[in-house]
This record gives sequence, structure tokens and C-alpha cells, in this order.
Amino acid sequence: MEKKVYLTRRETFAAAHRLFKSELTDEENLKIFGKCSNPNWHGHNYTLEVTVLGEVNPDTGFVIDIKRLKEIIHVNVISKVDHKNLNIDTAFLKGLIPTSENITIAIWNQLANKISGGKLYSVKLYETENNYFEYKGE
Ligand code: NI
Repeated sequence: MEKKVYLTRRETFAAAHRLFKSELTDEENLKIFGKCSNPNWHGHNYTLEVTVLGEVNPDTGFVIDIKRLKEIIHVNVISKVDHKNLNIDTAFLKGLIPTSENITIAIWNQLANKISGGKLYSVKLYETENNYFEYKGE
């Protein structure tokens, strides 16, 4: 059995969102969601870390070709969220309140069956420098 290695690719994207429930008033939304409920949107600079776990292929020395992983993340995630409004523009977030929790799970779902050569181990999303959200498929 080959040794297993965890490999992480970091990407960044900028996006707008608003956290709100349409059935609530602006005041009620403010109480639940704070500044992120601002009716006229606001943005975050997100950092995404995608970790793949796999055995090192003895032929290549790779778990997965990092260029290929970067491409998978760009095609399935970054191109759909970068400089977008997450409430309106991003099909894979339709119907969700775009909290970091929900975005993290949705990104996992976008990537989980597209990784070959290793398996998706975790998706981490940093909304600010001080908080991040991690999903491991459970
Ligand atoms: Ni926000």
C-alpha cells in the first residue's frame, strides 16, 4: 500500500451577497443576520481551500496533478462565484441563504465526484481572516 498524502489547493474569489429571508422585514433580518443582511448587498474576499487525500502514484509521484485540481476548482466553482452576486448569479446556490456554511457544503457538492486520483477530503471557506468553515462530507 502506498503512502497517503493530503494535498491542498488554495484559491480566492470576491463575491457579493445578502443574508435574509424574504418573509421577514429588514429589521427582523438585521436581528438574525446582522450587517450581512444589508438590503443593498455587500462583498467579501473569500479564500477557499480544497484538500484531496490520496495515495502517491509511484509512476508520477503525484496524488493528483495540481494543475488538474486547479482546473477542476476553476471550472466548477471559481468561474461561477468570482465577481458574482451569490444570491442571484450562482446556479448551485439557488434556493440557499448564502451563509458560509451553505456555500461550503455547496462547493463540496460541486467538487466531490469530479476528483480522480484521490478523494475530496475537506473544503474550507474563509469569509474573513478570523473565521473559516470546513465541511468533510458528513
Ligand atoms: Ni456577508
